[in-house]
Amino acid sequence: MRRIFIAGNWKMNTNFQEAKELIDAIYQQTNSHDIDVAVCPPMPYLSSVSNYIKENEHQKSLQIKVGAQNMHWEEKGAYTGEVSGTMLQDVGCTYVVLGHSERRALFSETNNGINKKIHKALALGLLPILCIGETLEEREKGKEKEIIEKQLLEGLTDLLPSQIETCTLAYEPVWAIGTGKTASPEIAQDMHAFIRKTLTEKYGKNVSDSVRIQYGGSVKPQNIQELIAQNDIDGALIGGASLKADSFSKIIEICSLSGK
Ligand code: PGA
Repeated sequence: MRRIFIAGNWKMNTNFQEAKELIDAIYQQTNSHDIDVAVCPPMPYLSSVSNYIKENEHQKSLQIKVGAQNMHWEEKGAYTGEVSGTMLQDVGCTYVVLGHSERRALFSETNNGINKKIHKALALGLLPILCIGETLEEREKGKEKEIIEKQLLEGLTDLLPSQIETCTLAYEPVWAIGTGKTASPEIAQDMHAFIRKTLTEKYGKNVSDSVRIQYGGSVKPQNIQELIAQNDIDGALIGGASLKADSFSKIIEICSLSGK
């Protein structure tokens, strides 16, 4: 059984005051305890958000973990502007989002660099969320599965099956991110099933049965029910809707009641 996993990617949004209000409101509006939930604030707030959660989580049914939106693959050194996985752990992170399409497109991240980051994260005990997704152009050319397979296999290169089992994958079609155009449940399920089949062929059924695959791209309370009902969708990575406590909490509650 794969436990549902909902993560909020705040991107470059919020300040500490807004972050606290968001966390407070999420606690107030949720009763769930049977799904995994994480928030991924901007780097400067990881420490304070993680402490704020620790101070306030007592007697709350929902457990919220903290994730970072990126990290470097080296432990320390002359890498101006970068942050290491050890630092992320030190400030209370459980998860780290790696290979988000915005980092691939705007900051030239490659599958090879992302793979190095995953190796490092796992060596440290951080849990990676590996994002993969095709652009509209790639889909229109019928190349979406080829692209996804490449991002997946190159991202996971040289990892042990036992390590892959602890990774979360996030299928995020680039054309659905921040556009309001969610992939239909059928399109999303088709790709998730393809990802799982690729994992089975390469790493065996134990791995493919264990790995959680989130869907991401304009997820909101209005579409999460149909998405989460799909066999191979195990949760969601949420951008815009994770910045509004009402929407994020509703998504959590709908998933929790989905019976999965
Ligand atoms: P969105 O972003 O929910 O705003 O489309 C998703 C993401 O980029 O992870």
